[in-house]
Amino acid sequence: MTTSEQGVSLGMPQLPAPAYPADVHARLEADAKEIISRYPGARSALLPLLHLVQSEEGHVSRTGMQFCADQLDLTTAEVTAVATFYSMYRRRPGGEYQVGVCTNTLCAVMGGDAIFSALQEHLGVGNGGTTEDGKISLEHIECNAACDFAPVLMVNWEFFDNQTIESAKRLVDDLRAGAQVEPTRGAPLCTFKETSRILAGFPDERPGAVEATGGAGPASLIGLKLARGETPAAARVVSPRAAAPRQAPQPGAEHLSSHDAPQQTSASDPGHPAGPVTEEGE
Ligand code: FES
Repeated sequence: MTTSEQGVSLGMPQLPAPAYPADVHARLEADAKEIISRYPGARSALLPLLHLVQSEEGHVSRTGMQFCADQLDLTTAEVTAVATFYSMYRRRPGGEYQVGVCTNTLCAVMGGDAIFSALQEHLGVGNGGTTEDGKISLEHIECNAACDFAPVLMVNWEFFDNQTIESAKRLVDDLRAGAQVEPTRGAPLCTFKETSRILAGFPDERPGAVEATGGAGPASLIGLKLARGETPAAARVVSPRAAAPRQAPQPGAEHLSSHDAPQQTSASDPGHPAGPVTEEGE
């Protein structure tokens, strides 16, 4: 007897959830067994199983949550608690492409807020809304650790860096028109359902897709290059958006900015021969 069946027998409320068709259930069950076998404890497989059911319907339905509960011997309440906590799980049907605009601090001040407002007007949907053609779901998202490429858009969790209002509008127009769209870095774009299956832990079998995901973007590597002793000029990365002419460097300037300059931290070390430096210079 599954946990949900036990719950019913004990009079516990269960979510009304129609069953998957038999062939779909059998296919998902085989996939679920493979996922669960990767974990020492079955319940640890809940997150990938939620991605699995999301890959079937495009969102985590009550049927999907019931399926997860049955596979993992959890209650639907436990599954629901997890599915509603993480924003990567949709609770209702959405578009083929999930377009997320980062509106956290750095992206916001670099243009993310303006891009999000412009896309809402351009697409005629609000936050969490889906266009009538079922192609685009728009949402604002939290920081995706890509602040060095701000402002950033994510489409089905692939990066579109250094965006502008114009490039963002062009991006969603191309997606709606079915045009080929290439992320700035990482694997080629695929549909939301396909992305969900990859996130469930199944291999991305598109030629070259795995190889394309390797490595950090150049802007993320500046600090590493500086730490290795490469000159700031060699480590310098120019944003694709930075087409505007730059100011000529000041005579004698050695560094890109004050942040790039080596800091004399040893001078504040009490153990350093020079001793700590006080405000009075003692
Ligand atoms: S603030 Fe947008 S990626 Fe960090």
